[in-house]
Formats: sequence, C-alpha cells, structure tokens
Amino acid sequence: MRRFLIAGNWKMNCGPADAAELLEGLKENKAEVADEVDVLVCPPFVSLSMSVNYLHDTDIQVGAQNLHFEDNGAYTGEVSASMLVEAGCAYVIIGHSERREYFGETDETVNKKVKKALSADLVPVICCGETLDQRKAGDHFDLVKTQITAAFAGLSADEALDTVVAYEPIWAIGTGETASPEQAQEMHAHLRSVLADLYDEDTAEGIRILYGGSMKPGNAEELLGQKDVDGGLIGGASLKADSFAEVITIAEKLSA
Ligand code: PGA
Repeated sequence: MRRFLIAGNWKMNCGPADAAELLEGLKENKAEVADEVDVLVCPPFVSLSMSVNYLHDTDIQVGAQNLHFEDNGAYTGEVSASMLVEAGCAYVIIGHSERREYFGETDETVNKKVKKALSADLVPVICCGETLDQRKAGDHFDLVKTQITAAFAGLSADEALDTVVAYEPIWAIGTGETASPEQAQEMHAHLRSVLADLYDEDTAEGIRILYGGSMKPGNAEELLGQKDVDGGLIGGASLKADSFAEVITIAEKLSA
C-alpha cells in the first residue's frame, strides 16, 4: 500500500505570525504523526523559513507553492528551487489551477518547473484538474491526460517516482463541493493508467496521487478510502489546526 501524504496548501494565507499560531495549534492537536503517514504544510514564501524552524522537532515537512524554473537572475518577484532548498523545503506545489488561471502557468512552464524541482531534490506536487464546463462536456479525462503527459515530458521512470500528482477538480476547490468518492476513484484510476502508459505499471503504482477540492474531516475517510487516492491536498481545512489534525488522524487510522 502506498503511504498517505496529507498536504496543506495555505495559499495566500498566514504570514509569519499567523503561521506560528497555526503550527502551534497543529502541534497541540497532533503531537505525533504515525510513521505510516507523511504530513506536509505549504505556507507562503515569507513563512517558509520560520515554519521549517518551528517544525524541526516534528515529522511534518514544509513545501512551497511555486518556484521559477531558472536558477537566478533578473526575474523580479520570483523564487528559485535552490532558494527553497536553502529555506528547508522538501516539496513544491506546481501547476495549481489558481496559478494556471491567474498567473499564466501553462503545461509547458509546469514541465520546466517539474524538471527544475527534481534537479534540486524537491518533490514536485504536480496539479491537474478540469473545470465544471469541461466535465459537463465530457472532456475531463482527456484534459488531465494532456496535462499529465505534458508535465512528465522528458522525465525518466526513476524521476517520475520522485513526484506526487494531485487531482484537483476546479469545481470542487474552495467551493464546499467535493468530488464523490466514486468520481475521485474513477479519475485517479484514469491518471494511474495514463502514468502506466507513459512508463509502466510498477512506476504508475509507485506514484502517489492526491485528491484536492474541499477535503475536510467530514469527507476525508470516504475519499482516502478509495483504492487510488493516496492522500489529500487540502486548502481551507488546512488553515484550521483541528480540522487538519483530524484529517491526519483519519489517514493514520486507514493506514493501521
Ligand atoms: P480547498 O483547496 O481544500 O480549499 O478546496 C484545495 C486546493 O486548492 O489545493
């Protein structure tokens, strides 16, 4: 069985002071995480270093929400992979739908960023997912296949094994609406078959596929209980220490 990864995507929330408060609450609610579950928080850039320091005595890891694919130079406002590593990050979210929609992220930039992250030993959490219109039109399977095929272009099987995929139906992000466990499983199985076509069955089996989109304590058990759902990328519910801790506990129980 694949290890669950429970990841919090804080988005543009929590500067250092709020981050300290949230992490303090998380430590109170979840003093120890079971060995079988990986936990990750992804604060905004300015809160990364303090989060790493704050969590140094825990098993909770820290990731960023974006990076630039160049090493350094005249890219005002951007942050490089090596800077994230220096700040203590282990993961980086790449190609979140909000970045694709508001900041011009494309399948091509996602691919460049994935390669850069891997070369710096950061685990990329590669996001894909469809809008409601695309789902209604029946295009969702083809769309995520295109996104994933582009994101993995040029990656060897060994490199692919160092990545995480996150399926996030855009219509379920921050809306309170969730994909049903059946919809999630159906898409995750599809993603796994896309990965098996790109590589092989073993590689596809070894890549964790997270579900994201209004995951919370009330629906986490059903979603995480699906065969091909290997964790969650959690926005809103990760901003409340007790909710996030509860989802981690659910993953622990399912792993036991
Ligand atoms: P949500 O966000 O849990 O608030 O829907 C998930 C995400 O966008 O990663």
